Amino acid sequence: MRFWVINGPNLNWLGRREVAVYGDLSLEAVNDKLMDWAAGRKLELVFRQANCEGRIIDFLQAAEDDARGVVLNPGAFGHYSLAIADAVSALTVPVVEVHLTNVFAREPERHTLPVAARCHGLIAGLGWRGYRLALETLTEIIEGSE
Ligand code: DQA
Repeated sequence: MRFWVINGPNLNWLGRREVAVYGDLSLEAVNDKLMDWAAGRKLELVFRQANCEGRIIDFLQAAEDDARGVVLNPGAFGHYSLAIADAVSALTVPVVEVHLTNVFAREPERHTLPVAARCHGLIAGLGWRGYRLALETLTEIIEGSE
């Protein structure tokens, strides 16, 4: 079973960006943890990251034809991108939105999540483990387990 994990703007700078907020793990280190977790579970993970809105949309469209589900951290685009929201709506595979931080405990402009409103679900505030939980849940949804 293959899943795509798509990260949006500035997440390539995890580990060097606002460490007090986002922690000191790099995106590569997060992805390694997810790979470790996926190993032995017959899960294949495809990682993509882009700082541009259009590339994220291209990734989502590509995932539709290649993946059973998508984990998406749209970064700041998650708070206002109607284009990414529309791309999510166009997919038939489930998409789970993940935010490392609890965006509802942050500035008011981070409380609006139009992309998450189109997603199967939302995980926020659990750090890198949110991606793992999203993958675990997607696996169970697809396997049809309770
Ligand atoms: C983020 C939260 C967003 O508000 C912020 O713009 C990010 C990271 C998170 O994972 O917590 O870039 O998506």
